[in-house]
Parts: sequence; structure tokens; C-alpha cells
Amino acid sequence: MVQLKFNFGMSREFLSRDEVLLFESEVRHHFDQIFRKTGKGADYLGWVDLPSATGADLTARLLSDASVIRNQSDYVVVCGIGGSYLGARAVTEALSGPFDAHFPKPAGGPPKLLYAGHQLEPKYMDDLLRLLDNADYSVIVISKSGTTTEPAIAFRLLKAQLEKKYGRKGASEKIFAITDASQGALKKLATAEGYATYDIPEDVGGRYSVLTPVGLLPIAAAGFDIRELLDGARNMEAYLKQEKELFRNPAALYAVTRNILYRKGKTTEILAAYDPSLFYLVEWWKQLFGESEGKDNKGIFPAGVGFTTDLHSMGQYIQEGLRNIFETVIRVDEARADVRIPEDPKDLDGLNFLAGKGMDFVNRMAAGGTMLAHIDGGVPNLEVRIPKVSESSLGELIYFFEMSCALSGYVLDVNPFDQPGVEAYKKNMFALLGKLGFEEEGEKLKKRLK
Ligand code: PA5
Repeated sequence: MVQLKFNFGMSREFLSRDEVLLFESEVRHHFDQIFRKTGKGADYLGWVDLPSATGADLTARLLSDASVIRNQSDYVVVCGIGGSYLGARAVTEALSGPFDAHFPKPAGGPPKLLYAGHQLEPKYMDDLLRLLDNADYSVIVISKSGTTTEPAIAFRLLKAQLEKKYGRKGASEKIFAITDASQGALKKLATAEGYATYDIPEDVGGRYSVLTPVGLLPIAAAGFDIRELLDGARNMEAYLKQEKELFRNPAALYAVTRNILYRKGKTTEILAAYDPSLFYLVEWWKQLFGESEGKDNKGIFPAGVGFTTDLHSMGQYIQEGLRNIFETVIRVDEARADVRIPEDPKDLDGLNFLAGKGMDFVNRMAAGGTMLAHIDGGVPNLEVRIPKVSESSLGELIYFFEMSCALSGYVLDVNPFDQPGVEAYKKNMFALLGKLGFEEEGEKLKKRLK
């Protein structure tokens, strides 16, 4: 049995059980396509068996390298973009305390994670290099293609700094490369420099790769339990593979309900969380669903909010703006901590009615009130519930979202595993940067930008 629960019961006025049931045989067919690897993009279905196929050898190697990284580093820089960094960031930030970066690193404690290569802004890079200049650090460079511009530039700068600090050999002991098994510039570089290298399975795309070394090495280096994470994912994998009954299969239900809502004009889905540590989980989800479904001129637009913060910015729109929205809310049963609200003798702020109550109670009442207000305002609410934020529940959640996304893409009749549209900006950028072979296009684009 899995701990994660999916629930659309509060939104019965927007979609009924009967409407869901109409998808029963279609979903069974799509599960079949996924498990037999016969559907669109079938070459990229390696993630389906990843949790159960990840053996003890790989886990042991990851843990051993993570301990090397921990022993030699105050910081570990994860250098990657999109699917090559969001999963690690989602899991590590969810499991970290909000102010961990500001507390001194305890002796023997895990290094702090920093990120590079996920954008091109120079002040960020300049400050990062200045911070790292006086610190011991390791780099985990991740790129499946091995040719992505953002991480390639950041890595060139980090490599140069490490080589200056420690010499070429010393630097090579602090660099871990995660890339394709046989091709790409990063693979060539890693082989030439003798970096410790992990392969990204050929049949796993970037946004489905968090349970490969892409996510697992940084998560382990940050001191979190990758065995528990994989166990949670394995649990969900086993459950979703054997549970044929639509109403008992959370991934099938989520995929179907969001497609029903989409067909009724709810073209934007907002994923909401009431814990700021889940911010990057929402970012990871946005990439997973956005890149998987947004193609062929269709797809649900995935947006994200952090409540209650965004109730004071996006709340107005959600309550009364264009009625093309539905929300999926991540509810966590057990708070990570609680803080009691004290009694105040003067009660000048009028808050004594809450004295003795925990902030978690207030947060929950805010969540319940918001859900009802949004439903009353015409915004269907779906709910994904986990018992607590832990490695094991995040493992379940990750696999649940991956399977839901694949199914949902098939219901939408797109290939959920390609991303042809991502190339358009790259082509223009190379042309404008004067890359060899793009000269003619570059001239045309420069004229258009004048
Ligand atoms: O999901 C994807 O495939 C993309 O987001 C990639 O992960 C991203 O573009 C980075 O690509 P690469 O790992 O090849 O550097």
C-alpha cells in the first residue's frame, strides 16, 4: 500500500465519478503501452522500472562518492539545467530547513549545495566564483547531451578555478560528471580529464531522471537518504503497476481528472503548496508537465504558487480572474515543526483567540478556507496528500507525478517524452552568438532585432 493519496472529491460539481469512469479502458490501454513500451516516445520509458532496477552496486557507489564529496568540501556545486538540476534541488530543498544555509556547517556535516549553469546571468556567476575562491568545494556537472550552453559555460569557469586552486590532478578529484555513456562534449572531457563519471541511461529523459545519478548523487552528497527515497519510489512503482482499478490508482485518477477539466476549458493547472520548502518541487513539477504536454498546440499550462504567500499576490486572480484554472494542492499531514502562538496580556493585536494554538493549525485552516473559497469561485481543486515530507514520501510523490504525467500525455495524445520546441531558442542564440554554421541565420536575426 502507498501512503500518498489523491482526492478529487471536493470538486464533484466540476467532474463526476461517471465522467472519470468513461476513461477506464483508455487508461488501461495507456498503462499497457507504458509497460510494454509501445506508445509514443517508447524509447524514453526507462524511468518506469528505474526504482526497482536500481541495484545495490550503484547505490553503494553513489554513497561512497557522496562521502568523498562530503569529506573534501564545504560546498558542492551542482552544475546543470532543467531536468539535470531541478530534481536534486526539489528533493534537497524539501528536506532542508529554511535557514540551513545561514547556520554554520557542523563539523563533519554535509556540504552546502550551490547551483550553477541553470541560467546565464553574470553577477550570479561572479559572486559564486568569489564565494568559492576561499572555500573547498566539489562540482557535480550534469548534462545528458553534454552540449548544453548554460552548464557548459559555468563548468568551464568552475573547472578553471578548481585547476588554479588545486592543479589539474587535484581538480579532477573534485569533479564528478554525469552524462551520456558514450557521446557528447562532457563525456569526452570527463574521459580526457579522468573525472569520476556516472552514465545517464539512454532511455531516461532529463525531466524523468531524478532517480538516476542525476538526482541521487547530489541528494546523497547533501546528506539525505537515497535508499529511503528509492524505497518510496519502488513502493509507488509496485503499487501503480499492479493496481488495475481506476479509482484505486492515484496516477490514473490524477491523469484522467486533469484531462477532463482541460476538456472543459480549464487550461491552466496551478500546483499549490503550503510549505515554502516545496517551492522547487513545484518547479520540478512545472518542468515535468510543461515540457511533456505543451506541444502540438495543446497542453495544460502548469503554474505554481506557494500559499499563503501567494494568496496575497495571485489570490485575487485565482478567486475572480479568467475561469480557465484548476488547482492541485499538495497537503502534508504532519508538519515538520510547530510553533505555539503566545497569550498577550494586552491583546492589542486582537490575536488572543489564537493563543495556545500552533501555527500549523492556522496554516491548515487557511488551506481549508482557501480550497472552499476557490471552489466557490469556480476553481476545481484536486488534492495530493502525503503523510510528511521525508525521503520515502518524496520518492512516492516523484514516481506518482512521473507516471501521471506519462499517462496524461497519452490521454492528451502527445509524445510526453520529447521536447522539440526547446531547440528554437537555442538555434537563435547560437546564430546571434556567431557560432560556426549559423552565420546566415545570425544576420537575419540581427536585422529583426534592430
Ligand atoms: O527534460 C529535459 O530533457 C531538459 O530539461 C534537459 O534536462 C535540459 O535541457 C538539460 O539538458 P542536458 O542534460 O542535455 O544538458
